[in-house]
Amino acid sequence: MSFASNGNGSHPSTLQSVPLLDLARQHAGLKEEMLAAIGRVFDSGGFVLGADVLELEQRMATYCQAKHAIGCASGSDALLLALTALDISAGDQVILPSFTFFATASAVTRLGATPVFADIDPRTFNIDPVHAAKLVTSATKAIIPVHLFGQTVDSEALARIARPHGIAIVEDAAQAIGAEIQGRRAGSIGAIGCFSFYPTKNLGGAGDGGMLTTQSDDLADRLRLLRGHGMRPRYYHSCIGINSRLDSLQAAVLNIKLNYIDKWTELRQAKATRYTEMFTDAGLDRVLVLPHTRPGMRHVWNQYVVRVPDGQRAVLREALSEARIGTEIYYPLGLHQQQCFRYLGYHPEDLPETKKAAEDVLALPIFPELRADEQAFVVQRIAAFFAARSNGHSIPAPKFLTRTSNQTATARDR
Ligand SMILES: Cc1ncc(COP(=O)(O)O)c(C=O)c1O
Repeated sequence: MSFASNGNGSHPSTLQSVPLLDLARQHAGLKEEMLAAIGRVFDSGGFVLGADVLELEQRMATYCQAKHAIGCASGSDALLLALTALDISAGDQVILPSFTFFATASAVTRLGATPVFADIDPRTFNIDPVHAAKLVTSATKAIIPVHLFGQTVDSEALARIARPHGIAIVEDAAQAIGAEIQGRRAGSIGAIGCFSFYPTKNLGGAGDGGMLTTQSDDLADRLRLLRGHGMRPRYYHSCIGINSRLDSLQAAVLNIKLNYIDKWTELRQAKATRYTEMFTDAGLDRVLVLPHTRPGMRHVWNQYVVRVPDGQRAVLREALSEARIGTEIYYPLGLHQQQCFRYLGYHPEDLPETKKAAEDVLALPIFPELRADEQAFVVQRIAAFFAARSNGHSIPAPKFLTRTSNQTATARDR
């Protein structure tokens, strides 16, 4: 659920709404630049895999610390192409977290292979390497760790599981452009990295788009072949590929936005730090579980997700909705509980941490242009909700509410 912003700098108590995401604010300052770039694509007539795509591929490879980057039509296609390039097929098993977006698993089933769902670390929501290790069989061909919400997985632990068995790691980095573990970027760690340019991502296009990254010359060549019908030279097909190309119009927009990605990431980090400070200041860290960042991580905060225990999420969400604050639930059901995967025979309790997370996670507004007074309003409404439910006993008055909105806006916002 997302609301339009009132667009002014009002004090928290007079705010009309806080959107979950407001792309109009991001685009306002870039519109002319983007429209000029789109005009140049029209003039060139190179709409598919044109010069803008080549430029974006080179820049993404550098940005993601990868040797190659290959554009494609979406993050979902990136996953499908990655598994196809690794020859995943019927009879193979692929380990992935159940707590992720559907596309991570559908890529596996489209190739006739079997998804094997792993549970998550309840603090980071990322795949639990200890559980993943127990799921390895002689049929395991790949593991797809998902860098959920913008924090990378424990890649060393996964490499220790995968390496001895020759299992490929395919990173689902859809939510994690620029995220790092010990200085290593998402997309540079596994055999192939998969990115999405869906508009809500940290680097979002004006529609669908995706990118694959790899250090391998052979895999890069195969991915380029597969995204274009397996055709080389023209009308000669050596393998069965798909049509999954990145449009030049998307690449033109993305090349402009890529100039700002580090600035936007820093702003997201500042918003996340501020939320955590405000929630702690308000004593709400005793009722909510706040996001946990592991040491050595560069978290890029595609989402700021809290846990609302004791079955209070639905009522809190309703209260925030009444206050016109946008929230979302990523994800309300583990994939192992989805109807379409019933044939795999999972019981909901097979993955208890996934089931529990699906019951209590709540994503709050976070985007680079989110204002301090809007964050204060979100925290104020949550504080008011819990204060009302505890009859005013257990939650102290949030200290930040006694400050003015000017005082809550710090240099980190700019
Ligand atoms: C974790 C994850 N994987 C895969 C995808 C699929 O990306 P796309 O929407 O570009 O197909 C998404 C995007 O929603 C995602 O969040």
